Amino acid sequence: MKIEQIYTGCLAQGAYYIESEGEVAIIDPLRETSPYIEKAEKEGAKIKYIFETHFHADFVSGHVELAEKTGATIVYGPGARADFDFHEAKDDEIFELGKISIKVLHTPGHTQESSTFLLIDENGKDHAIFSGDTLFIGDVGRPDLAVKTDLTQEDLAGMLYDSLRNKIMTLADDVIVYPAHGAGSACGKNMSKETTDLLGNQKQMNYALRADMTKDEFIKEVTDGILPPPQYFQKNAMLNKTGAGSLDVVMEKGNVALDVDTFEAIANHEGALVLDTRDRFQFAESHIPNSIFIGLDGSFAPWVGALITDLNQPIIFLTDEGREEEVVTRLSRVGYDNTLGYLKGGIVAWKAAGKEVDSIESISAETLAGKVATGPVDILDVRKPTEWEAEHAEGAENVALDYINENMDKISADKDYHVHCAGGYRSVIFCSILKSRGFDNVTNIEGGMADMLKTDIPMTEYVCPTTGK
Ligand SMILES: [Fe+2]
Repeated sequence: MKIEQIYTGCLAQGAYYIESEGEVAIIDPLRETSPYIEKAEKEGAKIKYIFETHFHADFVSGHVELAEKTGATIVYGPGARADFDFHEAKDDEIFELGKISIKVLHTPGHTQESSTFLLIDENGKDHAIFSGDTLFIGDVGRPDLAVKTDLTQEDLAGMLYDSLRNKIMTLADDVIVYPAHGAGSACGKNMSKETTDLLGNQKQMNYALRADMTKDEFIKEVTDGILPPPQYFQKNAMLNKTGAGSLDVVMEKGNVALDVDTFEAIANHEGALVLDTRDRFQFAESHIPNSIFIGLDGSFAPWVGALITDLNQPIIFLTDEGREEEVVTRLSRVGYDNTLGYLKGGIVAWKAAGKEVDSIESISAETLAGKVATGPVDILDVRKPTEWEAEHAEGAENVALDYINENMDKISADKDYHVHCAGGYRSVIFCSILKSRGFDNVTNIEGGMADMLKTDIPMTEYVCPTTGK
C-alpha cells in the first residue's frame, strides 16, 4: 500500500495518490491530469477510481478529463448531482483497491454531498481518513458556501457537528487525517501549518472537536468571523459540477509566444488583460503600462480568482523564460481558460522595441518612518480586516486587497497613498490595480508591516471591547 500526499502550496491543497497491488485511486485531483497519469504509468499501475470529497469551490478539478483519459470511475458522495457520468456513492459503500478498501462516510456540513473516505488496510484495520473540507488540521470546513434558500449556514454547521461527532470522532485515535487543505486556504479560517496529523491529536487540539462542546456552541464558533468567500468560489463550484474542458486545448491556445506588435495588438484591440507574473521587484522597476501584477511566487491562483472577476477574461502574460506552461496551468486551476499567449522576450523585448514602460515608486519602511515623523502621511493598509484589527499604523486606512473591487469608492484621487501589506506582495498587486485605473499617486512600501514594525512608526493595537485589553 502506498499513500502519497501531493501538496500544492499556491492553493494550500492536498491531492492524494493511493496505490495497492497496481490499482490506484486519486483523491481530489487538481486540474492538470498528467502528474497522476505519469506517476501511475511509471509504477505500472492503473487508475481505477477518482474520489472527490465534494464539489470544490476553490479550484477546478480535472476529474472529468482524468476519467476520460484513464477509464477510471469518478465517485462523489450521496446527493451529488453533476452533468457528467459518475458513481453516486451510498453512505458506508466500500470500494476495493488491490488489497485495501475505501469506505465512504457521508459527512455533510461543509457541503451537503461532502464525504470522508476511510482507508482500510490489508489487515482490515482503519488506517486513515481523507477528510476533504470536513476536518482540517486545527479547523473544520466553512459551512457558508452551500447555503441555499432552504438551508442556512447554521443548518449546515449543525450537520457538520453531527457528521464530526457521529462519523469521525468515533474512529480510533491512531487513524491518520489527510485533509484537502492546509494553512492559507480560504476554505477554513484557523488551519495549522501541518498537512497531516493523528485523529487522536486532533481530538485534543482542534477547537471544533472539543469533547464537551454543545451543538449550539459549535454552530456559533464555526460561523463566527467567516469572511465573505472570494468571487470565484461559486464559479469554480459550478465548473466542477458541469465538468471543465480539456487542459490540452487551453494549453494549445495559451502557451503561445507573441511578438511585441502582436502582443500589443491583442491588448489594445481584443481587450486582453496584461498579467505580469514576474518577481515583484522587477515589476515595480519597469512594466507595461496598465498591466496587473500577480506574481507566480506567491498565492498566485487564489489572487487571480479573487481579483479577475470574469473567468472568460482574455489574458496575455509576462513571465520568466521557462515558466510559460506553469502560468497557463496555474490560471486553469481556478478556471481562467482564456489565455492567449505570452510576450516573447518579456520586458526586454518590449523596451528594445521602443515601447513605453511604467514603474511603481517603492520606498523602504525606514523612509516611510521619516515621512511620518515630519507630517501626516496617507497610509493605506491592504491586509485583511483581521490582520488590520490585530495591529496597524496609527491613522492608516484599511482597504483589503481581497475586496478592492467592491471598495473602489473608498479610494480618493486626491490622496498620495503609501500602500503596504504584511510583506510586500499584496501591496504591489494593489498598486498595479490602482495605477491601471488611473490613480497615479501611489507609493509601495517594500517589506510591508514586517519592516514597519522595526521602525518607530506609531502603531495602534487591538483593544477588545469586552475586556478593554
Ligand atoms: Fe471546499
